[in-house]
Amino acid sequence: MYSKSSERPASAPEPGEPAPDNPTRVWSIAKRFRLVYAVSTAVLLLLTAGFLYLALERSLDARDHALLASKVQVLRVLLRQESRHTDVLVSEVEHEATESALRYYIRILDGRGRMLIETPGMRDHVPAAVFDDPSPTSAALPQDVAYHARSHGSFLALSIQTPADTGGGLDMRTVQVALDVSADLALLADYRRTLATMLGFGMTFAMVVGGWLARKSTQPLIEITASAQDITASRLDERIVVSRWPAELVDLAAAFNAMLDRLEESFTRLSHFSGELAHALRTPLGNLRGEAEVALARGRTPEEYRQVLLSGIEEYERLSRMVDGLLFIARSDDPNAVVERVRFDAAKEIEDVREFHQPLAAEQGVDVTCEGNGWVTGDRMLFRRAVTNLVANALQHTPAGGSVRICLHPQEGEALEVSVSDTGRGIEPENLPRIFDRFFRTDRSRATVPGGSGLGLAIVRSIMRLHGGNVSARSELERGTTVRLWFPPASAPARAGKMTTL
Ligand SMILES: Nc1ncnc2c1ncn2[C@@H]1O[C@H](COP(=O)(O)OP(=O)(O)OP(=O)(O)O)[C@@H](O)[C@H]1O
Ligand SMILES: [Mg+2]
Repeated sequence: MYSKSSERPASAPEPGEPAPDNPTRVWSIAKRFRLVYAVSTAVLLLLTAGFLYLALERSLDARDHALLASKVQVLRVLLRQESRHTDVLVSEVEHEATESALRYYIRILDGRGRMLIETPGMRDHVPAAVFDDPSPTSAALPQDVAYHARSHGSFLALSIQTPADTGGGLDMRTVQVALDVSADLALLADYRRTLATMLGFGMTFAMVVGGWLARKSTQPLIEITASAQDITASRLDERIVVSRWPAELVDLAAAFNAMLDRLEESFTRLSHFSGELAHALRTPLGNLRGEAEVALARGRTPEEYRQVLLSGIEEYERLSRMVDGLLFIARSDDPNAVVERVRFDAAKEIEDVREFHQPLAAEQGVDVTCEGNGWVTGDRMLFRRAVTNLVANALQHTPAGGSVRICLHPQEGEALEVSVSDTGRGIEPENLPRIFDRFFRTDRSRATVPGGSGLGLAIVRSIMRLHGGNVSARSELERGTTVRLWFPPASAPARAGKMTTL
């Protein structure tokens, strides 16, 4: 019997069973969009703002240092030139401390550390101890020192030693200059606040835009879901209208619509099949019932009852053949159904089929012949069954004096074509495409060949599908019919597996 090429894993839910709850929480697309937008905007803003902030801080720092350095240079020159005239020096120093919009504090100490000149208020704001030890005259200008006074703002402090002309020779002086940078720090703090606000606004805006975009992008999916929910077995003609959708989703909707087309076609076929099945069952069941009723209408002799039972057995056999045939087709339609592939001599098989039909053919006055040689890799019993069905059909539709030819035509690469030709009545062109359908029989066959079920050629088609081959038919009215079976070479992919016998 049939076997399956793959078994359902033990843990997989059966169809129709509810899927087990997903233990991991999966975020919605809208949530993901919002998060990605917010994070990427935040990173971008942070990088940009951080870069701008650092640039501003450095530029202010460099400017302040340059200002301090230049002020110190000016004082150095002043001390060298004006130290003899203390009044002039004091007014010059005051001038230097107040000449620009920036607030400077200047203190000059003598060689022993005594204070000579000091800008008013400097003692309270920037005491002498704040400054580093002054550097020697020759040394390069030292680094300034940042100093944050507790309540009087922030300063940059720089001190140097420089010679002063005191009239009696050169004496060393210590110059301490402090620049008030509170305004710069306030500017930077303000800048930081602005950047933080910008960041907040930017992230909120990004989240809103991300959410809107996600809603907009997932709208088609929501529509597909709604359409899918609307579709029932009785409303399979529903389709998704893909107006103004993004290209990716148009493809999805088209695939979904194509799937609905296939489903609708399958449903239609299924409902036709149910009708055909009911129709096919009605005749034998009607016959059985009719015979039983007639038999029971009056008293019968044992011989008459025996005849009724014998005739009933014929109908039961017909029903049984029909059920077997349907079962075979249904099983071979299963994509997991497989067939054993063995290499056998096709000439020997067709000869056996011919011999089997010979007595009937002789009775009908029809000549059955076999021609050709060839090998088939497949299921021997199914091969016989397919050829038997074709020969049986040919004999049924060929009048006395006609002939039936079974030919083997080896093809390229060890493929084999088997043809069964007759010189019978032929098939009407409009009926030819339907002869492989389940239960299809021409009106003429129904009238002239009682007892057929219309499954013979459908079974042949299933056998050929199982072998990865195909079947085709050609016919001319009143001249005859040829049905061809094409078996692929052994190397061709086919549903290989266990032997099927039916
Ligand atoms: N060689 C043939 N010549 C003429 N008509 C044919 C021939 N083979 C098949 N047909 C037509 O195709 C129909 C379907 O054939 P098929 O073998 O499927 O069914 P059946 O022979 O009627 O019944 P079953 O084979 O199930 O006993 C036949 O009823 C007949 O009308
Ligand atoms: Mg038949």
